[in-house]
Order: sequence, then structure tokens, then C-alpha cells
Amino acid sequence: MTTTSTSSLQADLIDLHPPAADMQRLVEQGLNSQPKQLPAWFLYDAEGSRLFDQICEQPEYQLTRTEIALLEQEAEAMATTLGPGVIVEFGAGSARKVGPLLKALTPDAYVALDISTDHLRHATQALQEQHPKVPMLGICCDHSQLDALPAHPLLEGQRRLGFFPGSSLGNFSRQDAITLLKRFRTLLAGGPLLLGLDHPKPAPVLEAAYDDAAGVSAAFAGNLLQRLKRELNADFNPAQFRYRARWQPDQSRVEMALVSCCDQDVQIADQRWNFQTGEPLVTEYSLKYSPAMAQELAATAGWRWVQRWHDPDDTLSLHLLVPAD
Ligand code: AVJ
Repeated sequence: MTTTSTSSLQADLIDLHPPAADMQRLVEQGLNSQPKQLPAWFLYDAEGSRLFDQICEQPEYQLTRTEIALLEQEAEAMATTLGPGVIVEFGAGSARKVGPLLKALTPDAYVALDISTDHLRHATQALQEQHPKVPMLGICCDHSQLDALPAHPLLEGQRRLGFFPGSSLGNFSRQDAITLLKRFRTLLAGGPLLLGLDHPKPAPVLEAAYDDAAGVSAAFAGNLLQRLKRELNADFNPAQFRYRARWQPDQSRVEMALVSCCDQDVQIADQRWNFQTGEPLVTEYSLKYSPAMAQELAATAGWRWVQRWHDPDDTLSLHLLVPAD
């Protein structure tokens, strides 16, 4: 563990050195499964993160804009309900959502967890300049593997307020979502969790949101093939795959996939894989939770649902959960 800097206008950083992911092994595992699928976080290399930011600007993809507006609108009420403590944000990324809460709540500290050191350092530093009175700490870690938050003066004896916006939980299978929510419960040590989840919507709305007219969503998925080419010497011809996003109501999820346009063999690292015509490579799922489904999920993961805030059209929710006992 390394700790750097403690001066007042400088966000502190703890690097837990999350183990480098064994991409090759994960690719083998994913391509041996049925359907073929790769972990969603593979989408987020530098180019993928840039494309994701661009998705958030597309007219069809309302989630980010709507959630930020809701946070701005309801920050005071959320702050009052959450009460005092240290805000702990999971998978903070560029940390562009917590601003209204920092303003309304003035927490004792803001702690951001993320797997990417660079992202964290930039995000917490930028935020620190906007909120000079809130001490900040970045913890570089794989929070899905963490059993406890590291010791740090900012966390000592403080109530913890969890924040997991953006419907990021939607990328996890139901089982993995339950495991993750249980882990958050442990990490938050009795504190509440503010959890952002997108709702199910009509198929045309969702399929447009995940396959926008400008082709940014398609490029975001296609970048996965480019990444495999760059990092694992794959010999994909990206032109022989087409992007597809479809709503699967039985599973309450959008499935995003690259579909093989022909019968083809593909070399990745030192193995060959066959794709039949029409065979999908699933790049990610985006699970959608109605308020009732969110309550049920929370209960299964040891949380008690307290209340939710939603946008005027009720397209998404920020749920407030507290430990069940
Ligand atoms: C980051 C998982 C919330 O599911 O809406 C958006 C990812 N992928 N468009 C989502 C995503 C393609 C996004 N999450």
C-alpha cells in the first residue's frame, strides 16, 4: 500500500494494487461459455471509456442526464435522509455525479473507489478543487474483491454513506448483483446505500438507447474486438461482425452482442475459435429493475428498502437502502 500527500487541497490516494487481470484466461473462459461472452469491464480501456462518455451525450441515451438532473433536484432531501458521515462511492470513474450531494451534505469526507489509478487521481483532484472543504481520498482497488476498507484517518469512527449511481449494477447478473450488494453492506459497516437503477421500458426505447443512430454504441462494442487485437494479438476482422442490442423482457435486460456475419475461425493469443453465421459474442447485459424488483433484490442481499427518488417520468430510481438488521 502506498499513501501519498496529506496537504489540505490535495486528494489523498491509497493504491491497493489490484492484481492485474489475466485477460487471456478470462477470454478463454468467456469464449468457452454458451453463448460466448466477455466480462463487461473489458469494454473500458481508454478508447472505450471515451466512447462511453460519448454514449452519454446521445439523444437516445437518457440515463445519465436524467439521473444527474434527479440528483441536482433532490440533493437536499437525500442529504437530510442520509444524515452525516463519509460518502463512499463505488466505481467512481470520473466522479461526475456526486457533486450535488457534496454540496447539499458537506460530508466529513468523500472516498472514491475505482479500479483505475489514473481515473481516480484525476477525478478526485478535479473534485477536490471544486469542494475544497471536503477532505478526499481515492482508493484504487477491485471493490468486488475487498473485505474491508483500508485503515485511514478519514474513515476512522465515521458513519459511511454508500453511493452507487448510474445503474452500474445493471451490468451484473442477478447472482453477482446480490454478492456485490452483500459486500457493500460489509464495507459500509452499518451505513446506508444510495443505489441508482434504471427501470424497464418499452423495447423500442431501450433498443434505441443501446443502438443509437450515430453508431456510438456500436463503436463502443466494436472497440472490444480492437482491444483483443491490440492486447492479445487477435486476428478478428471487425467488419465480419455486426452489433445488435435487444431487449429480453423475460430476463429484464438488454443484451448487447457482436453477431458473426459468416462462418469464421478467429485466432486469439494461441487459440482458434469458431463463430457460426449468426452466432453472438455477448459484450454486456444491462439489467433493468422496476421499483418492486429493486426492493426484492435488496431484501435478498440483506438490505431493507426505505424509499426511492425518481425523475418526473419515473424512468429510473435512486433507492435508499439500510442494513436489514
Ligand atoms: C454503465 C452499465 C450503466 O447499461 O446503461 C451503455 C453501459 N453500454 N450503453 C448501461 C452501457 C452501452 C451502461 N452502464
